[in-house]
Amino acid sequence: MSLSKNDPNSFSNPEECTVSHIDLRLEVDFKKHILKGCVNLSVERNTNASLVLDTRDLTILNVYDGDTLQKLGYSLGNPVTFYGSKLEINLTSQADSKKCRVCIDYETSPKCSALQWLKPNQTSGKKHPYLFSQCQPIHARSMLPCQDTPGIKTPYNAVVTAPSELTVLMSAVKVSEDLDESKLIKSHTFKQKVPIPSYLIAIVVGALEKRKIGPRSHIWSEKEYVDKAAEEFSETEQMISTAEDLLGEYVWGIYDLLVLPPSFPYGGMENPCLTFLTPTLLAGDKSLADVVAHEISHSWTGNLVTNRNFEHFWLNEGFTCFVENKIVGRMHGESARHLHALEGWELLEYAVETYGEKNPLTKLVLDLRGIDPDDAFSSVPYEKGHTLLFYLETLLGGADVFDKFLRAYIQEYKYKSIDTDTWKMFLYKYFSNQKDVLDKVDWNAWLYTPGMPPVKPEYDCSLAKKCMNLAGLWTQASAEDLDQFSAKDIAEFSSYQLQKFLSFLLQEESFPLNKIEKLTDVYGLKNTRNSEVQYRWIRLGLKAQWKGIIDSALEFVTTIGRMKFIRPIYRDMYAWDETREKAISVYYQHRDEMMYQSASAIAKDLHISETKTEHS
Ligand code: BES
Ligand code: ZN
Repeated sequence: MSLSKNDPNSFSNPEECTVSHIDLRLEVDFKKHILKGCVNLSVERNTNASLVLDTRDLTILNVYDGDTLQKLGYSLGNPVTFYGSKLEINLTSQADSKKCRVCIDYETSPKCSALQWLKPNQTSGKKHPYLFSQCQPIHARSMLPCQDTPGIKTPYNAVVTAPSELTVLMSAVKVSEDLDESKLIKSHTFKQKVPIPSYLIAIVVGALEKRKIGPRSHIWSEKEYVDKAAEEFSETEQMISTAEDLLGEYVWGIYDLLVLPPSFPYGGMENPCLTFLTPTLLAGDKSLADVVAHEISHSWTGNLVTNRNFEHFWLNEGFTCFVENKIVGRMHGESARHLHALEGWELLEYAVETYGEKNPLTKLVLDLRGIDPDDAFSSVPYEKGHTLLFYLETLLGGADVFDKFLRAYIQEYKYKSIDTDTWKMFLYKYFSNQKDVLDKVDWNAWLYTPGMPPVKPEYDCSLAKKCMNLAGLWTQASAEDLDQFSAKDIAEFSSYQLQKFLSFLLQEESFPLNKIEKLTDVYGLKNTRNSEVQYRWIRLGLKAQWKGIIDSALEFVTTIGRMKFIRPIYRDMYAWDETREKAISVYYQHRDEMMYQSASAIAKDLHISETKTEHS
């Protein structure tokens, strides 16, 4: 199997033929659950080689030269595991010109891994169908034939036709809308002028409404969520301008937010011009809006400076966590930033413990040869990456110095895709007067060794201490002591501190039944609207083998699709005899409502078959 030179997860050959622009024309077919249309690729030829593209579950109908309209010979390989099928297009007839255009008529399959098709009864409004995409890391190839590697970035245009009563949005700026004469369908024209990697192509089609929340921002969602969301994310502009202050101009024009139906598998996705968000962020008190700060930060780290392939994913996510925390620091104070940083360290400890400290997936820079990046996904690139930058900041002279470095890094590599060596070279160049300091960093341990980092940075623990102290009181309390606890204990806590307190309890070897019942009662945990709090409470209950938690746990995993929450809960349910069978049967009942990514990940967590059709 011949793979891309710089990307172990792609077949494409951008060194030989580089796609420099994508033009998409698509029709949305809600009856067949497919997209049908044509992609027109501008190709720059560096050699006479044929053009190699990634595809997955696509039907290729016709391949032709975009200028002469002459048919081009092609071959579509057999599907290879998660890679999909290699599409090789013969360009020989045009060998004398350095540039050409290749058109491919194609359609997606109803099992396209990038798309989730919802029936009207799966939406809040219950009247209209809904479609959304999730292309990161390597699902773009199931939506269009492309060089599906983040090493290649292109601008794109798209014209999408859909039923006229529905709104279509993409990760781009909308240029126009045209109603068909029949009035039944509408075409929507989009332009993304900034070059982006394929994983940032995104689409949503549904009965959407919008509210303006800032000079360059709207909230989009089904009618039922839109006002609540506008209120929840009212700090968006403040976050964008804080990020601009740190990293330079926001180049994408608009920054809109889309709140998706609950089955969206992530907390957020940084699709350019239109961040996708899970509705589990709607806590009612803005307490979970740091996910928006995270996605905003990707507008620089990830979307402007991009990982060359997903082995260097920490350049996207570690940097983004670092910038997210800088925004938190500027908005809520340095001690809040340190509390977040410490939580990151603990999440990393949890990941390393779960994977095992020798597991290669706990390295910062991964080896993804033969590995599906979805299977390699964990909090390691986020938190180990964040910790490395946090440590370097202290080492090199603090925020004043390091903020300038960050800005210079973005200026140097914006619109490019890079790897860890390139970043490290720039770091050494920028801090050439502190080479001796940098040489003391154990680079091999940080970058290429599994397990926890070689150094734990010093954190300001003032906010964490209060949470830890209360957790200590609970763990040490005897049955008679339990009456000393009351709602007053947490009256002064931020919602983040309440989460932190529950995280401390979760780290304990065991937390007995009488305590979880009491805790639920005195702090009113059953009625919390904060999904992060709910998640930790459910996990504590399952850990204590509290039968009273089972219904809440089952309801939680069947109403939402956010993997960060439901995977650990499914795993906890698998671990307890009382819930194992229930978890499996509930999974099968709801699998068809889940997006491909969540359904397949959870099948692995439950040690059952992944295939969509068996067992149904
Ligand atoms: N880009 C990620 C989501 C992602 C990663 C999707 C890999 C598919 C493959 C996004 O920016 C993200 O990290 N979201 C987090 C939120 C964040 C605050 C850590 C999430 O979904 O929880
Ligand atoms: Zn991210």
